[in-house]
Amino acid sequence: MAGTKPIRRIAITTGGGDAPGLNAVIRAAVRAAARRGWEVLGIERGYEGALTGKGLVVLDRDKVRGLLGLGGTILGTTNRGDPFHYPVKTGGRVVETDLSEKVLRNLKAARVDALIAVGGDGSLAIAARFAEKGLRVVGVPKTIDNDLEGTVVTFGFDTAVATATDAIDKLHSTAFSHERVMVVELMGRYAGWIALHAGVAGGADVILIPELPFSLDSVCAAVEARYASGRRFAIVVAAEGAVPAGGGTFVKKGKEPGREHVRLGGIAEWLAREIETRTGRESRSLVLGHLQRGGSPTTFDRLIATRFGAAAVRFLEEGRHGCMVALDPPRVTAVPLSAVVGRLKRVPLDGDIVVSARDMGICMGD
Ligand code: F6P
Repeated sequence: MAGTKPIRRIAITTGGGDAPGLNAVIRAAVRAAARRGWEVLGIERGYEGALTGKGLVVLDRDKVRGLLGLGGTILGTTNRGDPFHYPVKTGGRVVETDLSEKVLRNLKAARVDALIAVGGDGSLAIAARFAEKGLRVVGVPKTIDNDLEGTVVTFGFDTAVATATDAIDKLHSTAFSHERVMVVELMGRYAGWIALHAGVAGGADVILIPELPFSLDSVCAAVEARYASGRRFAIVVAAEGAVPAGGGTFVKKGKEPGREHVRLGGIAEWLAREIETRTGRESRSLVLGHLQRGGSPTTFDRLIATRFGAAAVRFLEEGRHGCMVALDPPRVTAVPLSAVVGRLKRVPLDGDIVVSARDMGICMGD
């Protein structure tokens, strides 16, 4: 698999949480590969299809027809199947076991010369380890959270922001009618990009992000100030990973073996209860959840996913691997996987969007 042998056949995998645009990346990679006379195998369910060897499916131009605007991934995905820490049941216990060699053996048996790994930090960390073992790999940055280093944007983010903004817009009329405080919980585990962008675009009164621990006093004061100014409702947007100063993240379910993350959740419900108790204003909470990951990608996401998928094939052709495609406007470039994995692109607190949010009178919780 390693080395400079000409590429005849590549594989593509989609791992971690799904994001709108995954299918557009698959389509672009397959079409670009077909133009070079390469075959493409899709790996089903993250790396699992390669681990069992039974989930490698031929993808040709016919198979990727109609995928540009389709949400999800035709290959399926999982955030459980890290082959370097695969949960194996032994003697009634679950033990995380390194099965990466088995994946490599199965890919070799399937005559795969190189891999396109579409994923977020977890999946790209796996890709980087396979690259260290000699596999030619190019990563494609995916996550609605937009928290990957090395690229100005990940695909999926724009669609998630559009969905969240639409939800905030809709909450305005019901909040107004009932004179309520509406608290909406958006995704954003370590970084508050979705909450910040959708909060500003949707005209929220309070935006809470993981980068800036918040004070409940400040949040309640902002709500009171809004009512005092004559506006008889308020919209609070909280990223799921936002934390009260001196407190911890709101966790729904702890870490399970083989799973990438703990499950976050609960901040909106807690905030609504606290705001109602402290201010006496009737409050309701809403968790937008996986709606943000679903549906048809926006124009921006279709375009960037197509550019990323095509660039991944071009880079492999040029002998560039061990890297991730990245947007560095106006170009799509290659950044080494080692410069991306294990790092986070968080919201800069002195950045223009936070500063502009404050100029709009939005409370950032501090
Ligand atoms: O990483 C993307 C993300 O959408 C996070 O914001 C969220 O915490 C997580 O996925 C939830 O993933 P799942 O419900 O699939 O475990």
